[in-house]
Amino acid sequence: MANLTIRNLQKGFDGHQIIKGIDLEVKDREFVVFVGPSGCGKSTLLRLIAGLEDVTGGSIELDGRDITQVTPAKRDLAMVFQTYALYPHMTVGKNLSFALDLAGTPKAEVEKKVAEAARILELGPLLERKPKQLSGGQRQRVAIGRAIVRNPKIFLFDEPLSNLDAALRVQTRLELSRLHKELEATMIYVTHDQVEAMTLADKVVVLNGGRVEQVGSPLELYHHPANLFVAGFLGTPKMGFLKGKVSRVDVAGCEVTLEAGATVSLPFTNAEQKVGDAVTLGIRPEHLELAAEGDCQLQVVADVSERLGSDTFCHVRTASGESLTMRIRGDMASQYGEALNLHLDSTHCHLFDAQGQVIRKALQAAA
Ligand SMILES: Nc1ncnc2c1ncn2[C@@H]1O[C@H](COP(=O)(O)OP(=O)(O)OP(=O)(O)O)[C@@H](O)[C@H]1O
Ligand SMILES: [Mg+2]
Repeated sequence: MANLTIRNLQKGFDGHQIIKGIDLEVKDREFVVFVGPSGCGKSTLLRLIAGLEDVTGGSIELDGRDITQVTPAKRDLAMVFQTYALYPHMTVGKNLSFALDLAGTPKAEVEKKVAEAARILELGPLLERKPKQLSGGQRQRVAIGRAIVRNPKIFLFDEPLSNLDAALRVQTRLELSRLHKELEATMIYVTHDQVEAMTLADKVVVLNGGRVEQVGSPLELYHHPANLFVAGFLGTPKMGFLKGKVSRVDVAGCEVTLEAGATVSLPFTNAEQKVGDAVTLGIRPEHLELAAEGDCQLQVVADVSERLGSDTFCHVRTASGESLTMRIRGDMASQYGEALNLHLDSTHCHLFDAQGQVIRKALQAAA
């Protein structure tokens, strides 16, 4: 079992608060990913869980036991870092067995665990090599193997793939996903890469400035972002944003007049909403479409197109100078400078208030 409960966790360095009161549950066998921009406190939060930093306030519980003050070695957690930190003078086999040998584990058991880790990570043929005779991806697998042999309650990963090239990163990402299922392990994984977060996680924790912005499954966060930050952070290309003002409110929703020159009726409202409120409308690239004849809502001018083969990303600019990206079929593209008429499908729009908080569907708000 491995259930982690974090309550009001805080950490300051030299009087600067870095982790500003975080509450979080990690359930047994969950793959939880901490994601957020550089400097938001992801590594610090992971290091607090590992016991590599002392907390300034709050508590950490593992399976009902308070481990806030417990030394790292006694927490039953194993951390894998971005820099693999292998022992250069030891063979791969010795790197894998070192922690167990140190703990006085019986030889037969050490051999069994090393063989098992080598099997899972396909390191068998490399056991006699030294780290410098390995590729980056192989070194990273050894670093993961060192964590596996310890059979920890929770695996902690801090950007373990960021030193690998793009192709290897994708391959190792898949291996990690498989490993999670094969070991039935509980994993906490830190990354600033939202694609890694979306593809690996059962549960994504979006951090920003030492606070949790939103917690949820990847698709919950993608389809129902709670605020502008999460909406803009998850998804490539990013969600487009258009500024506007509420021009009418009724029980079924509201009408927004955009600075870009269109008026859109939206099925969103909340109790506080009134005419004149500043709002931001969000729309993802896959939900922007070319308007049918006579159906134009938004006139834009095409900027550059990026042709990926499977899709084309058309970057466009509104009359108000705002940028949007439209995803269209790979065999199509817009011409630079071309005038386009776009249709905004109101069922796929998101609406945010002046504080950046989402305004939900009218029916949800009433429920
Ligand atoms: N030992 C330390 N002493 C002082 N400040 C620190 C220390 N460790 C981290 N910080 C500060 O805490 C903030 C969060 O750092 P942290 O390493 O947790 O960020 P991160 O989200 O992991 O960023 P990145 O994506 O760049 O790795 C940063 O502003 C950093 O400068
Ligand atoms: Mg970090």
